Amino acid sequence: MVKNIGFIGAGNMAYALAQAIIEQESVVQINVFDIRPERMDLFTGDFPRVKLKKGNRDLAADSEIIFIAVKPQEIDMVLKEIVEIKKIVISIAAGITIKHLESNLPHARVFRVMPNTPCLVGEMAAGFAAGSRSTAGDVELVQRLLSYAGYTVMVKEEQLDAVTGLSGSGPAFIAYLAEAFINAGIGLGLSEKTARELTLKTIRGTSLLLEKSGMSPSELINMVSSPGGTTVAGREILEGSDCSEIIRKTVAAAAARSKELGR
Ligand SMILES: NC(=O)c1ccc[n+]([C@@H]2O[C@H](COP(=O)([O-])OP(=O)(O)OC[C@H]3O[C@@H](n4cnc5c(N)ncnc54)[C@H](OP(=O)(O)O)[C@@H]3O)[C@@H](O)[C@H]2O)c1
Repeated sequence: MVKNIGFIGAGNMAYALAQAIIEQESVVQINVFDIRPERMDLFTGDFPRVKLKKGNRDLAADSEIIFIAVKPQEIDMVLKEIVEIKKIVISIAAGITIKHLESNLPHARVFRVMPNTPCLVGEMAAGFAAGSRSTAGDVELVQRLLSYAGYTVMVKEEQLDAVTGLSGSGPAFIAYLAEAFINAGIGLGLSEKTARELTLKTIRGTSLLLEKSGMSPSELINMVSSPGGTTVAGREILEGSDCSEIIRKTVAAAAARSKELGR
């Protein structure tokens, strides 16, 4: 059982991950350090079992597992501070490779995670990769902790660019589609509020139906389409356009940019 988990950086992602872990692990203590005192105050105000630390070295010494949740451009300073650490270190910083983490933390068992923004509401979809020094027990533990915040899958590190394109950047692409649906509803005479609610519930409901039934998207499409009906009329426009190819290119462009930014 883990007793102490540390968060370096107490921003939005750290807050969401810490909240999910505290809810599920009844005895765990969360150690936290952030250069902004007001961020740490938020943790102590909102969560039980939080200890504020004076600095990152102090935090790393007192934690069994350390999350690094600072922006990628700030990570090198943090790595220098905790260079001697021999524990599990989980970085959520976008684009920071396992090679970079392992060469700057020569004794740590490192993990690299690509979370996504729905983590903020406990509905994360994340991919993670394990460093060369991690054990099977470490992998199991890290997967368990991350899964408290949502779906978590282990992938090869080179696949994290694809994860970034699909689920990391995905919320922005889905939100774009949501906006188009809302505008379509407004264009047909619905109020903005009604169009928004109907759109969001339809996205959520479709997602849940696919998940719970195990149906493929094609099976669901066929289930909703009666010959000569309304869905078929809409599908003629959608499927006659380049929509699939545009989505393929969108995700591929985000994945390619992730690869370019990696270091
Ligand atoms: N948000 C997402 O959806 C998302 C998705 C995938 C990956 N990520 C990754 O998650 C990480 C955290 O993102 P976030 O949105 O939670 O960032 P954030 O809200 O900016 O939180 C980072 C916090 O760390 C603080 N900080 C900076 N340097 C520090 C240091 N040396 N020691 C301790 N604390 C320090 C920052 O203070 P200052 O603001 O004063 O610098 C800030 O309060 C990023 O690396 C990002 O790439 C985020």
